[in-house]
Amino acid sequence: MNSYTLNNDVVIPALGLGVFQSPPQETAAAVAAALRAGYRHVDTAAAYGNERQVGEALRDSGLHRSEVFVETKIWITDFGYDETLHAYDKSSRKLGVDQIDLLILHQPLPSEFDRTLEAYRALETLLADGRVRAIGVSNFMVDHLTRLLDSVKVVPAVNQIEVHPYFAQRDVQEHGAKHGILTQAWSPIGGITFYRDGRHTSTLQDPTIGAIAAEHGKGPAQVMLRWHLQQGRQVIPKSTNPTRIVENIEVFDFVLTPDQLQAIDGLDTGVRGGPDPAAITLATFGRAIPEA
Ligand code: A2P
Repeated sequence: MNSYTLNNDVVIPALGLGVFQSPPQETAAAVAAALRAGYRHVDTAAAYGNERQVGEALRDSGLHRSEVFVETKIWITDFGYDETLHAYDKSSRKLGVDQIDLLILHQPLPSEFDRTLEAYRALETLLADGRVRAIGVSNFMVDHLTRLLDSVKVVPAVNQIEVHPYFAQRDVQEHGAKHGILTQAWSPIGGITFYRDGRHTSTLQDPTIGAIAAEHGKGPAQVMLRWHLQQGRQVIPKSTNPTRIVENIEVFDFVLTPDQLQAIDGLDTGVRGGPDPAAITLATFGRAIPEA
């Protein structure tokens, strides 16, 4: 329950710290707090602009490199075979590591899928060379996964997608599972929905989740994380608050009942909080990733 074995036998902790939207100046402290609390996985991305601070906290922690699972993502601007190899150099230098545990494509580029495939081929090379331990994708929908699987050699180890009680993407999860791809849930407690203008309430205030939390003497975030874990998803809750960082890893001491899991399943609205992956283009989302 505390870890998953990826499709190439590499072991990943079941729960890691997400640092999406963690300002660089707060990221090192958040990662340090997480490592102190027992986290052994950090998920960052070139596009987050905080890889350097993640690396700083790893080095300052005193933990051996092999004890912490480091995951980062290649941004679409760096797609292409040579470009992606160079993006690996940028990320590994900023992180200060010579091997990345899990390197994934941050998004598909649906309008330029050949470039996406070339980027993935670079990941395959990095894997063969031992510069990464596992490779994968993020925000790939069923048709993107199908097109990828049709033309690459290595099945992605993970697909990191938006999953929380208000947006479950079961079709994508099931398609991945059929091919041995682990679903990583980004925004697992629904943080992506907190800033929206009243179309639905926050998952943290949801009465169904609140009632289940009360039954277990736990918080709503803990209940949501437990729901993911019991359904076999890897989770990367983001927080820069030390108390909430600790709260989010205290999820291995209670079990939701099948009825409770089902009640949370029933909250799916089918409405995503993040951008539609099919609509991502270089024109709208391209931005240069600085050199190391
Ligand atoms: P903060 O960093 O101030 O803790 P998600 O990973 O689902 O997108 O959620 C991230 C959001 O949820 C952030 O706004 C984060 O804010 C907040 N958050 C993280 N953990 C908790 C928690 N245990 N309780 C309440 N809010 C949380």
